[in-house]
Amino acid sequence: MALDVQAIKKDFPIFDERDKPLVFLDSAASSQKPRAVLDAMTDYYERSHANVHRGVYALAEEATARYEGARSRVARFINAPSEREVLFSKNVTESLNLVAQSWGRANLSAGDVVVLTEMEHHANIVPWLMLKEQLGIELRYIPVTPEHVLDLSHLDQLLDGAKLLSFTAMSNVLGTVNPIRRLTDAAHAAGAVVVVDAAQLVPHQRTDVQALDVDLFAFTGHKMLGPTGIGVLWGREALLDSMPPFLGGGGMIREVRLDGFTPDELPHKFEAGTPPIAEAVGLGVACDELDRYGMDEVWAHEQQITEYAIRTLAERFGDDLVVFGPPASDQRGGVLSLGFKGLHPHDITQVLDHSGVCVRAGHHCAKPLMKCLGVGAVVRASFYVYNDTSDVDALADALQACSDFFGL
Ligand code: ALA
Repeated sequence: MALDVQAIKKDFPIFDERDKPLVFLDSAASSQKPRAVLDAMTDYYERSHANVHRGVYALAEEATARYEGARSRVARFINAPSEREVLFSKNVTESLNLVAQSWGRANLSAGDVVVLTEMEHHANIVPWLMLKEQLGIELRYIPVTPEHVLDLSHLDQLLDGAKLLSFTAMSNVLGTVNPIRRLTDAAHAAGAVVVVDAAQLVPHQRTDVQALDVDLFAFTGHKMLGPTGIGVLWGREALLDSMPPFLGGGGMIREVRLDGFTPDELPHKFEAGTPPIAEAVGLGVACDELDRYGMDEVWAHEQQITEYAIRTLAERFGDDLVVFGPPASDQRGGVLSLGFKGLHPHDITQVLDHSGVCVRAGHHCAKPLMKCLGVGAVVRASFYVYNDTSDVDALADALQACSDFFGL
């Protein structure tokens, strides 16, 4: 394997001695946290906490330095040209709502076209549906093929006249990795701004926003070994400069009068209120940990597990098991959605839980995609740095136990 999982597991307190081994296969929902991240957040609160960008005393300056240091660390992690382009938000959902309400309201009006895909998470559909209700914009969707990749055969027609294309870098249900550069080039040729929901990609693959040439790019801390409550929106400086603030309040202004205000410079213009300071510190250390493991090794490792899982489950269960998504390859990441013997995904998940196997069941906040797949829900296993083939074996054994339990 590309990573030494036994050594890595020791970095994560949650895998310490338990009654039965924890088989955690739900990192696409939220990853576990290494001790280094937890310690950094505790250390911040114990030694450096004060509000940021406000006080002029030494402790407040230290807190500000740690918060802004985390911003620089995140910028380096995604090869952003400037930390001014890195905005901290709550999560990807908030980042995408920021784009819709700030860029969208400033640049779109009735009849303008926004292009999405059928494999989006609700976080990249509902904000645009809200804008459709508010402004009367038109939404178009790039379809999903029976092979569970995007159907790009009519891409140019779909983008014709579009003002914006927003798509997922990697489906949280199918594991499909979309061709970011190809979609971006086509959208730019059509004159559209490009937004990427990279929630499922940044934690797993080396990211270079400059090489991808996208315009706005959202990801979240809690899926990449960091804490909950902190997300990121990266955007080109000129584009962010041109966008009006999303939330108003303290920390985002240069001047306030009774009849108006002047927003602050980037990135503060988009960070109203007290920000998630300890969470930013934790996210910075999560970037350190991922770089210590090596992002190329992380990706290679997950590819190895995914290949092993698809092969093992096919050998064990044949046609009784449906694996959604494209075949194992560079086109898919470590997310495996399953249908098993016609059983309801929630029933499967409960039986798996008895075996200590944590997977998620449901529509995964992707109801339009469920409709494309012709199902109401799926069971989803997802892999990360602390998983290895023994977790896949445990999943297969638990599925067998499930089949036995229901007498199938
Ligand atoms: N977006 C997360 C998931 O797909 C919560 O599970």
